[in-house]
Amino acid sequence: MQVVKPLFEARALRQKLSGTVGFVPTMGYLHEGHLALVKQARIENSAVIVSIYVNPTQFGPREDFGAYPRDLNRDLELLKGGGVDIVFVPSDDEMYPPEFSSWVDVEKVTERLEGAARPGHFRGVATVVAKLFNIVQPSRAYFGQKDAQQVMVIKRMVADLNMGIEIVVVPTLRESDGLAMSSRNIYLSPKERQAAMILFKALTLARQLRRGGEKDAEEIRRQMTALIQKEPLAQIDYVSIADAEALEELSSIDRPAVASLAVRIGKTRLIDNMPLE
Ligand code: PAF
Repeated sequence: MQVVKPLFEARALRQKLSGTVGFVPTMGYLHEGHLALVKQARIENSAVIVSIYVNPTQFGPREDFGAYPRDLNRDLELLKGGGVDIVFVPSDDEMYPPEFSSWVDVEKVTERLEGAARPGHFRGVATVVAKLFNIVQPSRAYFGQKDAQQVMVIKRMVADLNMGIEIVVVPTLRESDGLAMSSRNIYLSPKERQAAMILFKALTLARQLRRGGEKDAEEIRRQMTALIQKEPLAQIDYVSIADAEALEELSSIDRPAVASLAVRIGKTRLIDNMPLE
């Protein structure tokens, strides 16, 4: 496993790889969810590249960029033995030099949910992922289902810009009580960690209602909202029952749908989702 920081070295090492390259872009502070992406990339490709970069442009001015957990040594330790060929750790100076002025703006699918709650977020994500794709030139790239809208944005970008990269989506990994694994879970106090189970409970309720034949999306949103409101530490950002293809809010569930939510537990904003079909 080679760890490279300068961009020219990452490019040079990439050129030496033959066969297919699986790429796992991350912001570090790795957990089992990231390792599942690496594992799948390892199975499906001749070589695996992981990037670790906390991308400043996808954080809003009042978001947690400064506080976002970072521990490169811990990350490298976790990646050891996972069959990773290259770990690329770019610097801000190289990713965003002072003259930087080109952005990737994916329209429509970014207008709702996370895009509406976090203006500019997906512009930052799409831009950094496009840059990383250009540097790494992967055959396949691996993303978690937990960030369902991010996956849609990246798939749209890859198709629209003819990038010719296969996007592989890996199911969300959960703690034993259902909480989706996330680097941000580290922010939660023990009390908040308990309260955070409400996200999975609300999604499970949505699925149960749907399985029981409920087609009225508003009724499902209403019951999810009522359940979350019973948790004193939880504050809802959004609760959504949307079309699984375009993420448009549904009134009646007449096609594949996904329940998704963003909830603040104390100061920590958590997101999660669950397909309803
Ligand atoms: O999902 C993430 O960790 C980030 O949004 C990504 C894709 C690495 C881009 O910074």
